[in-house]
Amino acid sequence: MFLSFLSPLPVLETERLILRPLRMADAKDLFAYAQDPQVSRHVLWHAHTSISHSRQFIREVRRQYRSGFPSSFAIEWKAEKKMIGTIGYMWINPDFHSCEIGYSLSRAYWNRGIMTEALKEVIRYTFETMRINRIEAMYEVDNPASGRVMEKAGMRYEGTLKQRVRNKGHYSDVRMYAILAEEFKSAKEHVS
Ligand SMILES: CC(C)(COP(=O)(O)OP(=O)(O)OC[C@H]1O[C@@H](n2cnc3c(N)ncnc32)[C@H](O)[C@@H]1OP(=O)(O)O)[C@@H](O)C(=O)NCCC(=O)NCCS
Repeated sequence: MFLSFLSPLPVLETERLILRPLRMADAKDLFAYAQDPQVSRHVLWHAHTSISHSRQFIREVRRQYRSGFPSSFAIEWKAEKKMIGTIGYMWINPDFHSCEIGYSLSRAYWNRGIMTEALKEVIRYTFETMRINRIEAMYEVDNPASGRVMEKAGMRYEGTLKQRVRNKGHYSDVRMYAILAEEFKSAKEHVS
C-alpha cells in the first residue's frame, strides 16, 4: 500500500512510545535534554543554549511540516507523557526513492532499547506508506551505540566514509548503514 512520498507525519504508537509531530509545548522537554553537550556531540546541531533556542528548533521543524516535508517525529515516553527525543528524515530523494534517518534521545533514557524501538517503527512506517526503496543512516565512528541501534533495527553496514561530515570543527569518518525495501519485506515474511 504505497501512498506517496510526502504525506503529513502521522501519530505512531509502539509498546512504550508515541511518535508524533512536534508541538511548541515540547520546548521545555526538548531544552531539558538538548542543552546536554553529550547528546549533541555526534549530531549536526549544537547544544541548545536557552529555551528560545529550543523553540526556534521546533518552529523550524513545524515550518518543514507546513512545506510538505515530514521532517522529525517527537518521541514521547508514554509512561510520563514526556517528549524525550526526536527521530526523522534528514532528507528524502523522490527520484532515487531513498531517504536518510537521524535521531537523538535524552541521556536519562539511554540504553533501554528506546531508540531501537523508535527506529524499527519509523522503518516500518516508511516502507509501508511511502514509495521508498532504500533507507540510510550514518553515525560517527566514535559513537558505536548508534551503530548498535541501526544493527538491531535490521540495517546492514555498507562501509566507512572518510571525513564525510564536518561536525563542531572536526572532520569525522562515518559508518554507513542501509536497509532496502526487499530486505525489510523478506525479514517480515521470515518472522510471520
Ligand atoms: C545513540 C542513541 C540514539 C542510542 O539510543 P538508545 O535508546 O540508548 O539505544 P538502544 O538502547 O536501543 O541501544 C543502544 C545499544 O548500544 C550499546 N552501547 C551503548 N554504549 C556503547 C558503547 N560505548 N560502545 C558500544 N556499544 C554501546 C548498548 O549496549 C545497546 O546495545 P545492546 O542492546 O546490544 O546492549 C543515544 O545514545 C543518543 O541519542 N545519543 C546522542 C545523539 C546521537 O548520538 N544520535 C545518533 C547520531 S548518528
